Order: sequence, then C-alpha cells, then structure tokens
Amino acid sequence: MRKRIFWMNLLLVFALIMGLALPAANVSAARKAKKKKVLVVYFSATGTTKGAAKKIKKATGGTLYQIKAAKPYTSADLNYDNDNCRANREQNDETVRPEIKGKVKNIRKYDVIFLGYPIWWGKEPKIIRTFLESYNLKGKKIVPFCTSGGSGISGSMKGIKASAKGAKVAKGKDLTDLSYKSVKKWAESKVK
Ligand SMILES: Cc1cc2nc3c(=O)[nH]c(=O)nc-3n(C[C@H](O)[C@H](O)[C@H](O)COP(=O)(O)O)c2cc1C
Repeated sequence: MRKRIFWMNLLLVFALIMGLALPAANVSAARKAKKKKVLVVYFSATGTTKGAAKKIKKATGGTLYQIKAAKPYTSADLNYDNDNCRANREQNDETVRPEIKGKVKNIRKYDVIFLGYPIWWGKEPKIIRTFLESYNLKGKKIVPFCTSGGSGISGSMKGIKASAKGAKVAKGKDLTDLSYKSVKKWAESKVK
C-alpha cells in the first residue's frame, strides 16, 4: 500500500513539473521563432542621420551599419550653394552610383532593414541607390527614415522603391528632432 502511495505521489509530482515546464518552453520557443532580425543601415554626411540611426538601434537591439563612401564627402563636396559641387552633380544625374567602401556581413540573416539618409535636393543621396542595388533584398522589409531641413521623406520613396527590387518597402519617416521615446514607438511598430 505504502509503495502504491509513493508511486502515485511521484507520478503527481512528475505531472505537475511537466504541466508547468512544457507551456513555458513552448512560449519561449514561439517567442524565439517570431523575433525578427533587425539591421539599421545609415548614410550620414554631417552626423544628424547617425543620431537617428543610433536611437533605432537602441530601441530595436538591431545591428548598426554605416554606409561609407569609398571617396569620403568633403565640406566642399556638400556645399550645395555651388551648383557644381559633388553632391549637386550626383543628385542631378540619375545614372550615378557612388562607390561604397565595405559590405554588410551576411545580409541574408536580417528580416527588417531600417535605411536612413539625409535628404539631398528633395531625394535620397545617390549612394543609397548604390547600397540597395548591391544586395539581394528579396522578401526583406525595408523601412526608410531620413533627416532633413524640412523637405521630409516623401520625395525619396520613388527612388528607394525602384532600387529595392523584390523588397517590401514600408512607409518612411522623417525623424529630424524626434525624441527617443517617439522614435522607439515608431521603430517598434515597424518590427512587429
Ligand atoms: C547637398 C545637400 C542638399 C540638401 N538638400 C536638402 C533638401 O532638399 N531639403 C531639405 O530639407 N534639406 C536638405 N539638405 C539638408 C540635410 O537634409 C539635413 O541637414 C540633414 O539632416 C543632414 O543629415 P546628415 O547630418 O546625416 O548628413 C541638404 C543638404 C545637403 C548637404
């Protein structure tokens, strides 16, 4: 009799442990399966877009990647008062694709790519087109963001969509002067 009670108790304890452990294991497996891998890519000539990119990285836990021009932009290159400065010439030529130094390692593992840039003459700098055209982005979600002197992001969406072949391009946002709290709320909504 005692033996029987012992075995019944043991069975009960076992059932209790399994009842608690299994659902917990399932929940954590489901969470893991759902977690999206985030890459935060940005180009920033004078540091403003870099600041916005860092906020997104902090909010999403993503990997930060800076697009660097093979030939860095000097302040003379960016002096848009001069019609003939490098940035203006590039923006005026649809075919220009400035060379990038380096590559993202293993871009295949990322599901969501935040892509940030300053607005130049109402649009994305041409080096952003170089970036998008350098990778196979099929099935990935691209989330554009920018900083600007007030023009906003809408004028850049056409170019981004044209170069991000096979990707799903989300509605972009101008993050100039947005607080960390606002950036976090927006970025989290794009990763879901
Ligand atoms: C060549 C050039 C063209 C620009 N054109 C615009 C423009 O059309 N509209 C605008 O709002 N800001 C324009 N700006 C301002 C930048 O978009 C803005 O200062 C941005 O925040 C800079 O980002 P960064 O510091 O990451 O390079 C221009 C800046 C440069 C250098």
